[in-house]
Amino acid sequence: TSAQIGVTGLAVMGRNLARNFARNGYTVALHNRTAAKTQALVEEFGHEGEFIATETAKEFVAALERPRRLVIMVKAGEPTDAVIKEFAPLMEPGDMIIDGGNAHFADTRRRERELREQDIHFVGTGVSGGEEGALLGPSIMPGGSQESYASLGPMLEKISAKAKDGSPCVTHVGPDGAGHFVKMVHNGIEYADMQLIAEAYQLLRDVAGYSPAQIADIFRTWNTGRLDSYLIEITAEVLKHVDAATGKPFVDVVQDRAEQKGTGRWTVQIALDLGVPVSGIAEAVFARSLSGHTELRAASKELAGPTARALSEAEAGAFADQVEQALYASKIVSYTQGFHEVAAGSEEYGWDIDLGSVAAIWRGGCIIRAAFLDRIRAAYDTRADLPSLLSDKTFAQEIGAAQDDWRAVLVAATQQGVPTPGFSAALAYYDALRADRLPAALTQGQRDFFGAHTYRRTDREGSFHTLWGADRSEVQA
Ligand code: 6PG
Repeated sequence: TSAQIGVTGLAVMGRNLARNFARNGYTVALHNRTAAKTQALVEEFGHEGEFIATETAKEFVAALERPRRLVIMVKAGEPTDAVIKEFAPLMEPGDMIIDGGNAHFADTRRRERELREQDIHFVGTGVSGGEEGALLGPSIMPGGSQESYASLGPMLEKISAKAKDGSPCVTHVGPDGAGHFVKMVHNGIEYADMQLIAEAYQLLRDVAGYSPAQIADIFRTWNTGRLDSYLIEITAEVLKHVDAATGKPFVDVVQDRAEQKGTGRWTVQIALDLGVPVSGIAEAVFARSLSGHTELRAASKELAGPTARALSEAEAGAFADQVEQALYASKIVSYTQGFHEVAAGSEEYGWDIDLGSVAAIWRGGCIIRAAFLDRIRAAYDTRADLPSLLSDKTFAQEIGAAQDDWRAVLVAATQQGVPTPGFSAALAYYDALRADRLPAALTQGQRDFFGAHTYRRTDREGSFHTLWGADRSEVQA
């Protein structure tokens, strides 16, 4: 017998993905650098389906039916290159190497190009949903050739999460690095979502005076409405949780330093290169890094702040409703920014990514899954070339309806000294986009003054320069 798919790298994600394939009726060849892990998987989960345990790279490759589908689930970066170097020489034209790790899309583009010379299809694939998703159905974002998707797609569709309407949460995102690019932006949006939720929590706690358990209930209620999402759901769980050792709320015994493995940072770095303003995502990344500067924070403890004002119960309840509006409005902005980045990447690299399909495959399985994504899909279905999510009528109307409360929340946050970088950046983006005139005109004037960088006029074509150091007459540049 031969395997329809092989998985090498049997840490938790690889192991669960292999089990997912097997549970869906595929014969799965297994390989791991240390063979003990392979054995352990077969011993523990062998009853779930057909596995072929292999030890050497040669055995592993030989166990796969042709064209081969070889999934690598190792650490992004050098370990991935090492595994490719090990397996590629053993493979033949038409075979596929599928990288399901969180690779940087630029690495994926390079690997795809290198392997193409050998006629091997390299399929950089975003996989989201954590351990549980990998096992029960992740959201899958494959790049690579159309040909590879024809062979691999049906299998991925089978093991993927399904959206509420039953459609599989996988699509051929686009060529070469498109899948990993989209996964990167997914993670950037994930960071932004998490930051916005965190700010909502802190406002409910510090301004409204609610306890973690009460806030958990508020989030639970929100989760039955338009904010219905996995991240809101787990937020309620985390906030409800009580530390067994101390009896304190779990959230009060965890060190307040957020870590990151890098995908959110990449989203911002690439956005800078592409000139896409992803300010909400950037603030989320910076908020994590600020939280980690414990010395800086300790040294700043004496800085003056406002005196807090306690809210009455009725005021607190009303404030919570306003926070829901602020959270929703800010969320619309971070998705607007994220989708702008996907569109810009698609344009830059010629990927022709269908934004509606991206929203569609994020509806289930992934960390940012949310009822909301079905509405984004609908917006792009109505108009595929929507210039911005904010230009969709429904979203524009909703954010317009939320803006008064959104501003009120930021007034309260500012007055009470609660940092809300995500909410604030989102509102600034919103106000900047709708502004008639931006102070960028002044910036241009300054640039022209000190560096003769020239400017354009509102009333005539062409570039101009004012002779600032002389008689201040204007010349055509
Ligand atoms: C997912 C997650 C996953 C992972 C992130 C977390 O989509 O399943 O995004 O990829 O949990 O790497 O990233 P940080 O460690 O950077 O928070």
